[in-house]
Amino acid sequence: MKVLVFDTAEALAQRCADEFSALLRTKTTPVLGLATGASPVPTYKALIERYTAGEISFRNVTTFNLDEYCELPRNDKNSYYTFMHENLFDHVDIKEENVHILNGNAPDFEAEAKSYEADIRAAGGIDLQLLGIGTNGHIGFNEPDVKFTKSTFVVELSQSTVNSNSIYFENSVMPKHAITMGIGSIMAAKKVLLIATGQKKAEAIRACVRGDITPACPASILQFHPDVTFFLDRDAAKLL
Ligand code: PGA
Repeated sequence: MKVLVFDTAEALAQRCADEFSALLRTKTTPVLGLATGASPVPTYKALIERYTAGEISFRNVTTFNLDEYCELPRNDKNSYYTFMHENLFDHVDIKEENVHILNGNAPDFEAEAKSYEADIRAAGGIDLQLLGIGTNGHIGFNEPDVKFTKSTFVVELSQSTVNSNSIYFENSVMPKHAITMGIGSIMAAKKVLLIATGQKKAEAIRACVRGDITPACPASILQFHPDVTFFLDRDAAKLL
């Protein structure tokens, strides 16, 4: 496990984008696991700048997003489909058919989960998985629980997640459920990068990096991952 601490959000984003650039330059068909939320936005900006400067291309990239709200129209301003297009996909040369985002309106969630996992396997597995972390230690929408989840499933969002994310749902009701890759799906990625910034993430980072490995802090399982790097600012790292 590597822990990198940065003085500025820009330095963090550039160093994190370096990991993506290196993969995109060396692998012919890279497979990325992508995250939503505020944490990855500066890194996505850095990647767009590098694409615009002609330094990298997404032409042969395949992506799988971690999660999506249930029962939110795909084009809702708060869907993760919309988020990913606005913050990355619409600005680079990725092929839409190579973009995979879970369908939060699938008629059969079990079938949706199975086919998502099958698509990840068919793509050769995830080379680089980007993660944020919830203040409660969640990764994807794997909320604190009594067991680690294996693969993609539908989850009831915890009160902590509702509290954190409801700020985005000013004039609408935040969904209570989401479909998310499981802890097992995330752990199967070859390389994991986790971004956390701000003091409100400090306790989750302490529990995840230094605490017991327990489903009460789902991110703590990353201590078992053979290739994980934490990208932190000083505030998020202050309890380490
Ligand atoms: P954030 O969310 O990046 O918006 O803080 C992270 C998460 O909940 O996983």
